[in-house]
Amino acid sequence: MMKKLLISAVSALVLGTGAAMGAGSEGHIHDVAFSFEGPFGKYDQQQLRRGFQVYREVCAACHGMKFVPLRTLADEGGPQMDPAWVRAFAAELDEVYDPETDETRPRKETDMFPTRRGDGMGPDLSLMAKARAGFHGPYGTGISQLVNGIGGPEYIVSILTGYTGEEVEMAGSIFYENTAFPGGLISMPPPLSDELIEYEDGHEASVHHMAEDVSAFLMWAAEPKLMARKQWGFVGVLLLTLLTTLLYLTNKRLWAPHKGKHA
Ligand code: HEC
Repeated sequence: MMKKLLISAVSALVLGTGAAMGAGSEGHIHDVAFSFEGPFGKYDQQQLRRGFQVYREVCAACHGMKFVPLRTLADEGGPQMDPAWVRAFAAELDEVYDPETDETRPRKETDMFPTRRGDGMGPDLSLMAKARAGFHGPYGTGISQLVNGIGGPEYIVSILTGYTGEEVEMAGSIFYENTAFPGGLISMPPPLSDELIEYEDGHEASVHHMAEDVSAFLMWAAEPKLMARKQWGFVGVLLLTLLTTLLYLTNKRLWAPHKGKHA
């Protein structure tokens, strides 16, 4: 009975993982080998800089990041822009409303990225890379996520590269067919096209590269301390391993005199 149950559970998992990685009603998400995945993964500073360039030159027209402080752009582990550059960049953005003086004032590096509201504007991207799960299941067990990661950045890459070129008009609005977006029709016009921007580091600006770079940047925006968290996690595992070994040896030693005696 137990054996049969176990076998059916295992086969369900195997089949389920396969199904979860394929398409489905959720839209198609393809896996990307990002540098920050895995237990020792790190953000690639050059990629974050390129991704930030895509964000500020393309996405920022329609998407805000109201939870991301501008000054973090200069932090170690992030794009690490020059602090003076960040200050100048902040000053060029929309002014902020100051409730104390009831007036607007120039944005400073201690403020957040601007917000975008209104017609045709998209959702805030501060936490998007963690708010969406690209990988699911099987059957809510999260095994696929354990293996492939949550898939938030992959979801964003897949949206940006998932346009089929078809458009549909519904109730006066235009929707774009997109293989990654749940439901298949998104109201965001395809934001990227090959060579849309010219990378400061000379990297090739294909739709795919821009999509991956901006997704990496958005992952950093949502989780800037990822690298520190992984490092401390590793130290924790090391300490626990050491403790386990010591306890095992102590236990052995303590019981040694009583072993083999038949009182
Ligand atoms: C012309 C305005 C515009 C631009 C430019 C734009 N977006 Fe969007 N974006 C939208 C709108 C509108 C939506 C809402 C789509 C919907 O819900 O149908 C959206 C939705 C999204 C979503 C959310 C999908 C979801 O699951 O809700 C992501 C992710 C996204 N955009 C990323 C980006 C990125 C990254 C860029 C820059 C490369 C970008 N967008 C550029 C307007 C824009």
